[in-house]
Amino acid sequence: MATNPFILSIDQGTTSTRAMLFEKESRCAFVARREFPQLYPEPGWVEHDPEAIWTTTLAVLRDALAAARERQRPIAGIGITNQRETTVVWDRHSGKPIYNAIVWQDRRTARHCETLKQAGHEPGVMEKTGLLLDPYFSATKIAWILDHVPDARRRAEAGDLAFGTVDSFLLWRLTDGKVHATDATNAARTLLYNIHQSAWDRDLLALFDLPAALLPEVKDCAADFGRTSRELLGRSLNIGGMAGDQQAAAFGQTCFQPGMTKATYGTGCFVLTNTGSEVVASRSRLLTTIGYRLDGQNSYALEGSIFIAGAAVQWLRDELGLISTAAETEDLANSLDHNQGVYLVPAFTGLGAPHWDADARGALLGLTRGTGIREIVRATLESVCYQTHDLFRAMADDGVTATRLRVDGGMVSNGWLCQFLADILDLPVQRPVQTETTALGAAYLAGLQCGLYHSFQDLEQNWQLESEFSSTLAGDARTTLLAGWHEAIQRVRSAP
Ligand code: G3P
Repeated sequence: MATNPFILSIDQGTTSTRAMLFEKESRCAFVARREFPQLYPEPGWVEHDPEAIWTTTLAVLRDALAAARERQRPIAGIGITNQRETTVVWDRHSGKPIYNAIVWQDRRTARHCETLKQAGHEPGVMEKTGLLLDPYFSATKIAWILDHVPDARRRAEAGDLAFGTVDSFLLWRLTDGKVHATDATNAARTLLYNIHQSAWDRDLLALFDLPAALLPEVKDCAADFGRTSRELLGRSLNIGGMAGDQQAAAFGQTCFQPGMTKATYGTGCFVLTNTGSEVVASRSRLLTTIGYRLDGQNSYALEGSIFIAGAAVQWLRDELGLISTAAETEDLANSLDHNQGVYLVPAFTGLGAPHWDADARGALLGLTRGTGIREIVRATLESVCYQTHDLFRAMADDGVTATRLRVDGGMVSNGWLCQFLADILDLPVQRPVQTETTALGAAYLAGLQCGLYHSFQDLEQNWQLESEFSSTLAGDARTTLLAGWHEAIQRVRSAP
């Protein structure tokens, strides 16, 4: 192994693509980031142009490679992490997508899911996949593409088309069409993968009417995913790590022991608790998912998924123009002693766990003549914490209790948010020094694969606490705030 190599991590997220160079000790030495357009062709629909995903990936990769060259440091390997569930179908011969990527937030297949639910299929699907029948996941998105793009179904059946989540699409492009593969964590989000048997499931393929010929090979999270094409990047680098972004974040937070919990605040918020080799079937409408797979062994997780977290702050900035930067929200929220009874329910793309109400829409409640920007901003940040609370309550109902929470993602630089979270959860909230744990998790996986790390202990010793937030709120104050929130949630439910 050459001295002092970097690990290169690609983090293909919902609103931007980043490439980062990590030192072995987890310090990030370089970040390149490019945003790309969000497409909303109809209400409730969200798409990305796969070529924009690809060109931003290529651009940030080239920047990262130049940065490594400048520092005269080698690259030990590449890890890929990605927005999960987002669905791409492409032509195996030309490599061209046949439709835009249908994004995880897209609700266009709500009716399809409802029909399957009405027909009584949800318990069987849950049993095999750990997921619910919701448009969030990939299967109905793939079916929509095959049903709406002329000739697509026939071409899929003939083996001319490939499906992949974004990881898989990028891998195909980076290896110049040589590798069509994904990893277990991404496969586990499609509604087509049996998480007990670790295999694509024939019955599920039949239920969603999808040909097996579309599917990628499923590998461990640390595995030989192939090498980048030399023509593309001027050098051939090994791709050794892959995981969906939320699982990668849990890995980067070194949540390796059962009971360890992380919450990542990006576009949405996703709470994952490690349940080890135990598959906890939720009675509270949480998801059971593969946390990581190494050496053929699955480590499972219980997941709560909230669709809108950081996206609500973006909405304040971009749609309402109430703030010009996300950072302003901290002082604005801090300038009030109380929320003044104002609640925002950011159900812009329906409600995720534990409600799973695709038809719910957002609302701002409790407005008075005195309500101003500060109250609305504070209500936005509070909503993220209340939603996290509801996930914790659902986890407790499933018999999984966390004793502390590790947080990460862009929003947690906001100290007010972390404090209110600790107040509402009544739990210690731990913010690590390195909060870019999604990209770090992918780097760790690639580092394990190329022999830079040898054990979990090697990774655990990198985790460092930056701040711990503890609750300062009296129990009745918490109860009153939560009662107001739950009343607000009831008001937006499509079928209360
Ligand atoms: O399941 C969707 C998730 O992977 C998206 O993550 O970081 O864009 O909120 P993020």
